[in-house]
Amino acid sequence: MKRFLTLALAASMGVFMAGSAFAVVGDPAGTVDTYSAGDPANGIVSSRHNLGSFSMHISTLGTTELCVFCHTPHHTNTANNLKPMWNRGTSAPTSFTAYGTTIGGTTVASADIGSTSLACLSCHDGVTTFDNIVNAPGKGGVSATGSVRGWVFSDFGSPVPSNLVSSRLVIGLDLSNDHPMSIVYNGAVSATNYTGSRASLRASNTTISTIDLTSDTADSSVTYDGGNLAKNLWAVRGFIDGDATIADLLRGASNNTVECSSCHDPHFNNKSYNEVDSTYANSEFESNGLFLRRVGGNTGSGVCRTCHAK
Ligand code: HEC
Ligand code: HEC
Ligand code: HEC
Ligand code: HEC
Repeated sequence: MKRFLTLALAASMGVFMAGSAFAVVGDPAGTVDTYSAGDPANGIVSSRHNLGSFSMHISTLGTTELCVFCHTPHHTNTANNLKPMWNRGTSAPTSFTAYGTTIGGTTVASADIGSTSLACLSCHDGVTTFDNIVNAPGKGGVSATGSVRGWVFSDFGSPVPSNLVSSRLVIGLDLSNDHPMSIVYNGAVSATNYTGSRASLRASNTTISTIDLTSDTADSSVTYDGGNLAKNLWAVRGFIDGDATIADLLRGASNNTVECSSCHDPHFNNKSYNEVDSTYANSEFESNGLFLRRVGGNTGSGVCRTCHAK
C-alpha cells in the first residue's frame, strides 16, 4: 500500500486538470493507493470522523476520545434497532421522508428507516449536534436518549457550529432525493437468472471480487486506476475482504436492506479514490475518499455496478 500526502496529490491533479480534461480519470501521478485483501480498513484517527481534541479537522477540547462520538461500551442507545453499541441521540425514523416507491415497485416508508442509516444521520441530518451523546466519557454521566454536552468545536482554531452545516455533507431529513435507504435488496435468483430481480440487482450471494467491471471498458487490460477497478475489492467487516458477498453489505433488522453503511465504512480513510481528490478545494486538505467501502471508490461507477448489473 502506498501512502502519500493528499495535499501533494491535489496540487499535482490541479496541474494535470489544467492540461487535460481527461487526465483525472487515469492514474496521472502514478500514485493511486491500492489495498490488498487482508489489509485493515482503518485510518479514522486522521480522518474527519475524529472529532476529539487530537483531531486534524473539526475538533473539541471536550474529550480526547474519538470512538465516544459514536460508540460506548456500556449503556448504549438501542432504540429503533440502533447498532452497533450506539452512543448518540438520534432523530426518530418518522422524522425522515423516505424514498417512497421505486420503478421496480419496491416501497420504503419513513417508519422503515433504520439501523445504520439512523446512526449516520445522527450527524448528517444537519440537526443533531456532535456532542449529543448517551454515555459521556468518564464521570460525565448517562442520558438514555442522548443529551447535548455543551462542548465547543473548532476547525484549525476557528470556532465552528456543533452540527454539520455544509450543504455537501448535510443529507438532511428528506431522504426522498437520495438513493433509496433502508430498501429491501431484491436481487437475482442466480448469477444468470434475473427473474424477480429489481433494477438488475445481482444475486446477493455474488462474491464481490468476482464481479467483472472491466471487460466492456475501452481498455480491458486495465492498468487503469492502478488495477483497482479490475480487483473490485471492498472493505467489509473491518478489513479489505476478498471473499465478501453482496449480502455482507446489507443491514437492517433482517440483514436485507441497503443502508448508509452498505456503501460507506465510516472508519475507512479510503486513500485509493484518486478521482475525488481533484474535486476538493485546497482548503479542504484531507480527502477521506468519501469513506466509500470500495477500493478505488466509485471509479468507473464501480460502487453502483457492484450491485446493479448495468
Ligand atoms: C462517526 C461515527 C463513528 C465513529 C467515530 C466510530 N465508529 Fe465504529 N461504527 C460506526 C458505524 C455507523 C458502524 C456500523 C458500520 C456497519 O454497519 O458496517 C460501526 C461499526 C464498528 C465496528 C463493527 C464493524 C466493523 O467495521 O468492524 C467496530 C469494531 C467499530 N465500529 C469500532 C470503532 C472504534 C474502535 C472506533 C474508534 C477508534 C470507532 N468505531 C469509531 C460509526 C463510528
Ligand atoms: C459524530 C458525527 C458523525 C457521524 C455519526 C457520522 N459522520 Fe460523517 N462526517 C462527520 C463530520 C464532522 C464530517 C466532516 C465535516 C467537515 O470536515 O466539514 C463528516 C464527513 C463525512 C463524509 C465526507 C468525507 C469526505 O471525504 O469528504 C462522508 C462521506 C460521511 N461523513 C459519511 C458518513 C456515514 C456514511 C456515516 C455513517 C456510517 C457517518 N458519516 C456518520 C460527522 C459524522
Ligand atoms: C448506494 C450507495 C450509497 C448509499 C446507500 C449511501 N451513499 Fe453516500 N455516497 C455514495 C457515493 C457513491 C458517494 C460519492 C458521490 C460523489 O462523488 O459526490 C457518496 C457521497 C456521500 C457524501 C458526500 C457528498 C458529496 O457529494 O460530497 C456524504 C456526506 C454521504 N455520502 C453520506 C451518506 C449517508 C449519511 C448515507 C445514508 C443516509 C449514505 N451516504 C448512503 C454512495 C452511497
Ligand atoms: C448495496 C447495493 C446497491 C448499490 C451499491 C447501489 N444500489 Fe442502486 N439500488 C439498490 C436497491 C436495492 C435498489 C432498489 C431496487 C428496487 O427494488 O426497485 C436500488 C435502486 C436504484 C435505482 C432506481 C430507483 C427507482 O426509483 O426505481 C437507481 C437509479 C439506482 N439504484 C442507482 C444507483 C447508483 C447510481 C448507484 C451508485 C452510486 C447505486 N444505485 C448503487 C441497491 C444498490
